Amino acid sequence: MSTDDRDERAASFDRAAAVYQATRPSYPDDAVRWSVPADARDVLDLAAGTGKLTQRLVALGWHVVAVEPSDAMRAELTAVLPAVEARPGTAERTGLPDASVDAVTIAQAWHWVDPPRASAEIARVLRPGGQVAALWNVRDQETDWVARWTEIVHRGDSLETSYRDPQLGDAFTAPEHATFHWGQPLRTADLRTLAASRSHLILLPPDERDALLDEIDELVATHPDLRGREWIEVPYRTECYRARLR
Ligand SMILES: C[S@@+](CC[C@H](N)C(=O)[O-])C[C@H]1O[C@@H](n2cnc3c(N)ncnc32)[C@H](O)[C@@H]1O
Repeated sequence: MSTDDRDERAASFDRAAAVYQATRPSYPDDAVRWSVPADARDVLDLAAGTGKLTQRLVALGWHVVAVEPSDAMRAELTAVLPAVEARPGTAERTGLPDASVDAVTIAQAWHWVDPPRASAEIARVLRPGGQVAALWNVRDQETDWVARWTEIVHRGDSLETSYRDPQLGDAFTAPEHATFHWGQPLRTADLRTLAASRSHLILLPPDERDALLDEIDELVATHPDLRGREWIEVPYRTECYRARLR
């Protein structure tokens, strides 16, 4: 995939912010507590999107600044969290002063950034000894209907958006990794909307997107674990990496 295609994918969320906010998962508190030091005061939530992680950080008591490039995603965040300062910016250029935060989080987005430039920017805005954490929610493919849903949603997708060691470079200690298991209650009807929030589908021609979404409806209507049920639990793992500024 070319850099232009990747940039287009990264920017695609602007077109589906409300759908994203309605269906994408939050993050479990144990994963958030592992990712941010208890004695931190100011936290930068990078690529904050509609504020899914921001909301948990605020609920757990940290003072949070959110940075997010998409105007539409930031508007959703501000609607949910009007007291949080939400600034336009990227992981590569946050616009924050030097040494201004104790911790940085970036959820479901490290695969969209340029790692060397983002690492340098995070090192610049962190106070001495500060911590950065990258988090991803990953659906548990061992559940049959999840594997089938994923096959439909990623059919023809050439971009790998899964979790990975964030490769932060020499300014940081070697990353530690941890996994947290949990489940998100979701209406079966929203499995279609959740699919529509994926960047691969957002950018497909409408007829191809509708054909895949119709397959999701078919899955919901026929799979023995989904058929006739109003609510299900989507099994997730939250994969987290954290590292300290040396
Ligand atoms: C999958 S969403 C994750 C949003 C939020 N962190 C969450 O967990 O729900 C990815 C977000 O990354 C943002 N993004 C894309 N490229 C970025 C970059 N270079 N720097 C910062 N954010 C970026 C997109 O606008 C989008 O809001």
